[in-house]
Amino acid sequence: MNHPQHTYIDENIDRFKNELFDILRIPSVSTDSRRAGEVRKTALYLLEQFKSIGLEHVELFETPGHPIVYGDFLHAGADKPTVLIYGHYDVQPAEPLELWTHPAFEPTVIGEDVYARGASDDKGQAYIHVKALESWLKTEGRLPVNVKIIIEGEEEIGSPNLIPFLKAHIDKLACDMVLVSDTSMFAKDVPSITYGLRGLAYMQVEVTGANRDLHSGVYGGAVANPINALAEIIAKMKDENGVIRIPGFYDDVVALTPLEREAYARLPFDENDYKAELGLTDVAGEAGYSTLERASARPTLDCNGIWGGYQGEGAKTVLPGKAGAKISMRLVPNQDPDVISQKFADFVMANVPKGVSVVVHAHHGGMPAATDLDFFGMKAAAQAFHEVYGKEPLFTREGGSIPIVAGFKSILNADTILMGFGLNSDSIHAPNEKFSLKDFHRGIKTSASFFRILGGG
Ligand code: BES
Ligand code: MN
Ligand code: MN
Repeated sequence: MNHPQHTYIDENIDRFKNELFDILRIPSVSTDSRRAGEVRKTALYLLEQFKSIGLEHVELFETPGHPIVYGDFLHAGADKPTVLIYGHYDVQPAEPLELWTHPAFEPTVIGEDVYARGASDDKGQAYIHVKALESWLKTEGRLPVNVKIIIEGEEEIGSPNLIPFLKAHIDKLACDMVLVSDTSMFAKDVPSITYGLRGLAYMQVEVTGANRDLHSGVYGGAVANPINALAEIIAKMKDENGVIRIPGFYDDVVALTPLEREAYARLPFDENDYKAELGLTDVAGEAGYSTLERASARPTLDCNGIWGGYQGEGAKTVLPGKAGAKISMRLVPNQDPDVISQKFADFVMANVPKGVSVVVHAHHGGMPAATDLDFFGMKAAAQAFHEVYGKEPLFTREGGSIPIVAGFKSILNADTILMGFGLNSDSIHAPNEKFSLKDFHRGIKTSASFFRILGGG
């Protein structure tokens, strides 16, 4: 059956794409204070969009950081569910710029894809729902369910102001479920619903030796080297089986059930393709777990950055005074980032080599999340995918983090449906980020169908 919303989407898709390109042109990098004006400009663009498609109570909520854009349309009746749509309009920095083949903030269409920072994460995916709402409001002047929508500007910096916002507006945001498109499909043309996300604890370790850099010949051998000391500490964090050695690290981990492991094993995954796509000679990780399990259902510990000493051309003989590293741990249900951060810090402090001093501190983190597979919204989402993609979606867990999802549960008591339209090959957070415009188009239809199905139509 051809639904009027789908016809409307087909007829207007070129305009929808151009609007997305307008949004992609605004460099809304939330971590860069010099871009605060651009971040705000993106919020204002969305604010105007919300108004022009016919949403009500459209409002820009100021926060101590970047603003939150809100709108709703609550006329479906009290017997219909209320869906809270969430997305983020902020993006990661585009650096290193020289690795982009086209300018990061000038959307470039190549084949089916648009290349730009934020195309997939999350402007393209968040905008899907705005256009799906438009397809209903402009064809029938109504929505089949009650809808509230928030798009925030601080997800990429850990959503520091969103928990307070949820707490301050519990009644305004009350809902039966949250709908988020900020994850990936299992593969191209393989739709999937994500039912688990990892959490995050992100630490910084700074090591100081002498009060200045020294000649490595004059002092080397007699004075501790902060880089060597840091390397020693890091090397102790995992054993030869890839098991994290921080005491108590696994205490709260919910183990994979045999049923879940069977489901993992049935996913259409080819390890050789995976290696080839990444240019790897081999995969690596915790012994006893498959690649997919390692990348989504098991906790991790990874250095994200490391510094110290001489990095320039040629050789400089120096015994540096300082070294440091940024280390992240991806967490799984029911690990708590604050508890893990403390255990990490205790472990580091218990392993400080002689002759250096160490300072550890925590950056932003996030709680892991999981949605029950029987949750009624899941079935409507699966049906909507089937309608548009012509196949049943897979149910998967993903390794990335969306910190606020746990907050939706703990504060609003709402489960989240993660209806991802990105691909792992979209290069999010990296140069040459892209998003399939075909999935942008199909995503809008899937969202429009989801609302109809959920409303009982
Ligand atoms: N959209 C991503 C998370 C994601 C990506 C989930 C792919 C599943 C698949 C989100 O914008 C993100 O990047 N989150 C950060 C967390 C944050 C605290 C900065 C992350 O996962 O690193
Ligand atoms: Mn995102
Ligand atoms: Mn991101």
